[in-house]
Amino acid sequence: MSRIVVVSNRVSDPHKPAAGGLAVAVKESLRKTGGIWFGWSGRITDEPARGSGQERVRVETSGNIRLATMDLSRREYEMYYAGYSNNVLWPVFHYRLDLAQFDKRHAAGYRHVNQLLAQQLRPLLEPDDIVWVHDYHLIPLAAELRAMGCENRIGFFLHIPVPPPLILAAIPEHEWLMRSLFSYDLVGVQSQADLTHLERYMATEAKAEIVRDGVLRAFGRTLQIGAFPIGIDVNEFASLAKGTESMDMLETMREEYSRRQLLVGVDRLDYSKGLPQRLLGFRELLERYPENRSRATLIQIAAPSREDVDAYGELRQQMDSICGALNSDYGELDWMPVRYIRRNVARKRLPGLYRACRVALVTPLRDGMNLVAKEFLAAQDPADPGVLVLSRFAGAAEQLTEALHVNPYDTEGIAHATQSALTMPLEERVKRHEALMTRIRRYDVHWWRNAFLDALEQAVVA
Ligand code: ADP
Ligand code: G6P
Repeated sequence: MSRIVVVSNRVSDPHKPAAGGLAVAVKESLRKTGGIWFGWSGRITDEPARGSGQERVRVETSGNIRLATMDLSRREYEMYYAGYSNNVLWPVFHYRLDLAQFDKRHAAGYRHVNQLLAQQLRPLLEPDDIVWVHDYHLIPLAAELRAMGCENRIGFFLHIPVPPPLILAAIPEHEWLMRSLFSYDLVGVQSQADLTHLERYMATEAKAEIVRDGVLRAFGRTLQIGAFPIGIDVNEFASLAKGTESMDMLETMREEYSRRQLLVGVDRLDYSKGLPQRLLGFRELLERYPENRSRATLIQIAAPSREDVDAYGELRQQMDSICGALNSDYGELDWMPVRYIRRNVARKRLPGLYRACRVALVTPLRDGMNLVAKEFLAAQDPADPGVLVLSRFAGAAEQLTEALHVNPYDTEGIAHATQSALTMPLEERVKRHEALMTRIRRYDVHWWRNAFLDALEQAVVA
């Protein structure tokens, strides 16, 4: 069996908590089989980076996984991570052209760091290794590796959505960027909608020949593409739920909110998550269905994220102001409508938090998949489960058809769906939960990993 080498911008110690779907999923999928996990250490050095070779890589062992990481200089971080990855690719791929800031220097910095990562990774690779590259930070990595003579099988999985071709075409470097995908043997995306957009882009903008469904030919190479919806480790989550941290959390929540109906949101503090609209939807619920006043409490946990990118600072202020107004307009001496907590919750406590809540509000404006939706369902008591209110624009909506789907821009729609969720009879809750759990179990993180790696091994390389 070949060794798996995972490459992602952010590498996190498998024994430490992480917020973000990629880290959680990669961690779960490497834990059993082991392998190498290569990428940025998360550290920024103030001095200009020295050397371009192996001297920048640090290798540590964590269980059966070797973590090979390198620091970035401040300039590299600003150009590649903050500048291009998160001020161009993240907003554009989430359909937010209004937030994109195009700057040629950032594009050059992005390419430079991809070259650098390829240079450092190359000597770690053995001929039979299968390389699995993740996410938008590293789109040109295979092209850089190929230019260095690397002939390994290389697959790429994009965790974020693929927008329609004309949105992608707004990126000044889109031709270069998308052409570089042809250096992979397999490109995986989260949903059928993403796959359709990718195929249309390749056919119209890159003039690729569609050899057959999911197989494209252009620039002298054949590329296979497919949808591999990412999942969670249901069993691991179930055992976390039985742990003392989770049980304590559940008990604390039940004591603290004994007379309340709880709603929950758990997200990174990111504009793609539709947080302001969600809070306004909750406000609308209190307005239209006043029986929820003094009764329903929304617990919104938001982990700070990408704080040196402007749009994130603005969101933080907007959230402070919306939550402050909601509490001061509707709060009572003995009840506050929103508990807004800008922090990470320890992963071990998450199942207890989810289980204490009757409704989850997962309302991103766009999301590649959204793992919180799946975690919430997996944490429920099957005999008395909570209800998922889910944005139709999350990749997860394609799979989770028995959730209550909402348009996340429509705050009135959120209010109505939330009211239906809060008042849903037990029988219907159980029926929906059962159907959803069947799909979450079937398409779990192990299915995702195996389906992708099997397809990569079988991809026709030419
Ligand atoms: P994204 O990858 O965009 O952050 P996902 O919903 O797919 O969104 O994945 C988020 C992951 O990070 C989930 O596993 C979730 O439990 C975790 N997470 C997100 N926000 C927090 C938070 N505030 N505290 C703890 N874990 C979080
Ligand atoms: C999403 C992205 C990941 C990213 C994570 C956290 O899940 O798809 O690539 O790692 O968010 O964001 P950060 O910028 O902190 O790595």
